[in-house]
Formats: sequence, structure tokens, C-alpha cells
Amino acid sequence: MKKETIQPAKYLNGAVEMPGDKSISHRYAMLAALAQGTSELRHFSAAADCHSTLSCMSALGAEVKAEKDTVRITGRGAHGLKGSWRALDAGNSGTTMRLLAGILAGQNFSSKLTGDDSLQKRPMKRVIAPLRKMGADIRGRDDNFAPLEIRGTKLTAIDYQMPMASAQVKSAVLLAGLFADGVTSVTEPARTRDHTELALEEFGVNVEKNGQTIRLRGLAGGNGSVTLAAKSLDVPGDLSSAVFFLAAASLFQDSNVLIHNVGLNPTRTAILDVFAEMGASIQMLGLKSSQGEIIGDLAVKGASLKGGVIAGARIPLVIDELPMLAALGPFTEEGIEIRDAAELRVKESDRISAVAENLRRMGAQVEERPDGLKVEGRRAGKLHAAEIEPQGDHRIAMAFAVAGLAAEGNSVIRDAECAGVSFPTFFAELNRLAER
Ligand code: S3P
Repeated sequence: MKKETIQPAKYLNGAVEMPGDKSISHRYAMLAALAQGTSELRHFSAAADCHSTLSCMSALGAEVKAEKDTVRITGRGAHGLKGSWRALDAGNSGTTMRLLAGILAGQNFSSKLTGDDSLQKRPMKRVIAPLRKMGADIRGRDDNFAPLEIRGTKLTAIDYQMPMASAQVKSAVLLAGLFADGVTSVTEPARTRDHTELALEEFGVNVEKNGQTIRLRGLAGGNGSVTLAAKSLDVPGDLSSAVFFLAAASLFQDSNVLIHNVGLNPTRTAILDVFAEMGASIQMLGLKSSQGEIIGDLAVKGASLKGGVIAGARIPLVIDELPMLAALGPFTEEGIEIRDAAELRVKESDRISAVAENLRRMGAQVEERPDGLKVEGRRAGKLHAAEIEPQGDHRIAMAFAVAGLAAEGNSVIRDAECAGVSFPTFFAELNRLAER
């Protein structure tokens, strides 16, 4: 288990690129495997999670060739996947497991989907339930956990009112909808990231949006000639990864950091609004639209952060950024309070308890609640160095590496390679930009 030592920084300076967006990379890889012909996906995510998706798609018969960050995937059409005699391993990736469950439910073969210890503890009922309504035959441990056994079968379209705001559930139903007879619709209770809808459109599927409802027609349902067309696509940089650099640079007055080519899809940028409300100095530059997604550069300077409350319908839009925001709490004027975020407890770790535990190790004052936490601001005292236990969770490791930059003394991040789940070069890049 590799440890990383984090020395305090004076400020952050320089330009940096993020790995390709994790959410978009998963979707492009899955759809490319369902398309006819060879797709070229440039700036594909280096994240271990996305490589789990690639190995699953390869085990299902797609030809996958990766060269640096360009991935070429040759699919044999929407009905061209083949069963794998081995269990498909989603590793640490909830997105791989939940989205793939939707695709596998409608195939003419059976599959077993498994993952690491963390993923085997995460709830799958949220996808099992709607897929069953479509006629899927899925079994899981205690009807909720991986490994999942999926016997592919003929699916029927449904109109699904999602009980929770989850892009993964929405995507699982829409992807199953490709293999269902008729028109599948999903209505979300609150907006979530829309990369699946945009990616489907890029690959030639007609997706209709009306308010919070998304509709698509199954590929065989009177529309048999519709196939997914192979594409050549660029994946934007991952905003959720950029957030660690936005946070780190904000902490020091003299920082000046430029992050190139970041995905700025409006269903992902709520975090930039939160930063702006807290007084951060972040500018979006050179915005352009590319393949349905918006891309731009982010310029960030140091600022005095106010802190505040994050709650309600905003939570699903910043869910992956909450560990970093919480870890910024002790450096803010008013502290940070997070509410309505019980979902954090079923992420790659129990992120409420992992954040609270590690903040306390650094001397912060934290109140842990069932659906969030309250972290006291600057007045509660300066953080000191500590040994951080990320609990195998990439975002906890990275959030506390950032906090460590502004604490007194050298902090140690245990099991630091878990950052590779989303950002394998994170520590190298952070050290490159940190002036000491
Ligand atoms: C993701 C959706 C979110 C997010 C996850 C990636 C996706 O999960 O937390 O990291 O790519 O669809 P939920 O849909 O479960 O909220």
C-alpha cells in the first residue's frame, strides 16, 4: 500500500490537463461496443474505472485497442455482443455495473457481473427494480448486491418515474430501452448529468426530452433499421477531477492555475456556482461546443472562501464534489454544512463518515449527521498534519491531499494509489503545481 506525503504548499502555479471525463468515457465505450464499425475515442479517461468498462466490453466481444489515451473500439452492431464465460468484473465502478446491467438485461445470453469488495456492498436494487419492470431476469445477493446474475431476455418498454435522482439509474433504464419493444421513458425527480442522452444522440439514437422526461424507442421496435453508427469522438477533461485543483489553488492567495479543456456540461457545473457563491476566483475561458458537450478552460486564483450550506436539489448535481467541499470547510469563514446527502453513505466508501473521521484526525470540528455534516470554519483553529485513511476511496484520498497542502506539517495519505480509480497522475500533477 503506497503512502504519499503531502508537504504544505505556499501556492499553486501552472497549467494542467485533466484525464478524460469518467462518466462520458464509460458511455462512449459502451455505445461504441454496440455500434457497427470502429469508433475512435480520443482523450479517453485514464481512470481504472473506465478501464474496467473497456475490459467488460472486450469480454463481451467488442474489439478494444488502447494506445495512450486513444481507444479504438470495433463493435458488431447493437445485437452483436456475445456472452462471456467469465464473470464481468466492474472493479470499483458503480457506473460500469449499473449501466451494463441495463444493456445485459436485453441480450440473448446470460451474464454474471461482479466487482471489488466496495462495489459488492453498494446497492443495486435501484437498477434491479426498474429493469424487472421491463421483464428482466436479474438476481443479486439479498436481491440488492453484486454479484448480479442476468439472464438476457426480451424486454418491454416502460414509463419509469424514478424514485431518486440518479444518472446511473436513468442510464440503466434508457440503455435497456434500446433493447425493449416500444418507447421507454424515464422521468427524473431532479436533474442529473445527461451524458447518456447526449452520447446516445451522438451515436445516432433519437432521444426526446420534455421537461424531466427522456424518451427513446427500442432499436427493434418498428425501427429495426436503426443501428448505432461508429463515431470519432473527443472526451473532454473531467470537471470532477479539476475540482481538486480548483480547491487547492483557491486555498492560497498567490495561486494562479489554468486547467485546459474541461467538460462544462451544465448538469455538471453546479459546483462552479457553489465555488462562486463561496467567493472563489474561477473564470471560464474559451467556451466551445463539441459533440453535444461544452468544453472550456478554467483559470483559478487564490481567494478567501466564505463557506455556506449545500442542500436540496443541488445535491445530485455536486454529489461527487462533496468530499472536497467538506474538506475545505475548516479553511472557510463560516464553515461548510451539507444536508440531504445520505446518498454519500453508499458511494465508494461511506463518504460522510470517511470525511468526518479524517477531518477530525486533522483537528477539525465536525458534526456528523445521517444525511450530511457540519464542518466548522477557520475560527475553530488551523488544521494540523495527520495520517489519512482514505478507506479505499479515490475522492477521499484526493480531497485530503488538498487539505494537507494548507495544514501545519507533513500529512500522509495511506493507500494513495486508490486515486487511480479516477485520476492515476493526481499526486504527480499536484506536486508539480505546488510551490513550496
Ligand atoms: C455517475 C453518476 C453519479 C456519480 C457517479 C457517476 C454517472 O452517481 O456519483 O460518480 O456516471 O452516471 P448516481 O447516478 O448514483 O448519483
